[in-house]
Amino acid sequence: MSKNKIRLGINIDHIATIKTNRGTPYPSLIDAVKIAEDSGADLITVHLREDRRHIQDQDLIDVKSVARKLNLEMALTEEMLTICLKTQPDYCCLVPEKREELTTEGGLDISGMSKEKFNFLQEAILKMTKNNIIPSLFIDPDINQIDYAIKSGVSCIELHTGTYADSTNPNQQLQELEKLTIAAEYASKNKIQVHAGHGLNLSNLSNICKISQIEELNIGHSVIADSIFKGLKCAVQDYRSLLDND
Ligand code: PXP
Repeated sequence: MSKNKIRLGINIDHIATIKTNRGTPYPSLIDAVKIAEDSGADLITVHLREDRRHIQDQDLIDVKSVARKLNLEMALTEEMLTICLKTQPDYCCLVPEKREELTTEGGLDISGMSKEKFNFLQEAILKMTKNNIIPSLFIDPDINQIDYAIKSGVSCIELHTGTYADSTNPNQQLQELEKLTIAAEYASKNKIQVHAGHGLNLSNLSNICKISQIEELNIGHSVIADSIFKGLKCAVQDYRSLLDND
């Protein structure tokens, strides 16, 4: 059976973490983009956080200047929307953000948004679309959230795989996988493109690749962690071959 090629988005935030922690000009994000792309990344993902803990505004400009395809992850705020429209990434994934969190925890709660926030979401989606930026919403694998995503006018979602990836109990992991499978099928039936990401690594990725509706995966922390020992080129290549052969 032929298998759809899954696009691989490599998130380079944690290369920026090393740079930002010391305020050094190295390691070069521009070099990281080139190596990742030459090793099989279809797109480069960066998350410009409101607290600028890793990617800085100048990093975003630098990455945009060299990346073949750029996916900008950001919170749904006026400041970020202005930056997004100015930067013109190819894709923009809206994520929830809390200052005290270590990393993005869970998806956007679209169904629980105030009317005002939901209107702002719709306005942001419209503005991005008019500017040829493809918006997506990072949400939990939950049918209710997908229904609200559809209402918002978006044509693409990214399913949060963090709960699946973090489960240490095999039964719980299977249940989470089932939720992701059902959510992906439901979104696809409703003509919504499905991406996924968060917490994925070479050990937990195979099951996710079997969900046929998933068109794109965004992976960061584990690739950069692997690259400490085997180099970025080899780390990205290993993910690429798993996606292509599994
Ligand atoms: N997708 C989204 C929307 C994210 O916020 C993140 C983390 O920045 C990722 C994917 C990548 O997660 P990880 O770094 O755990 O691979």
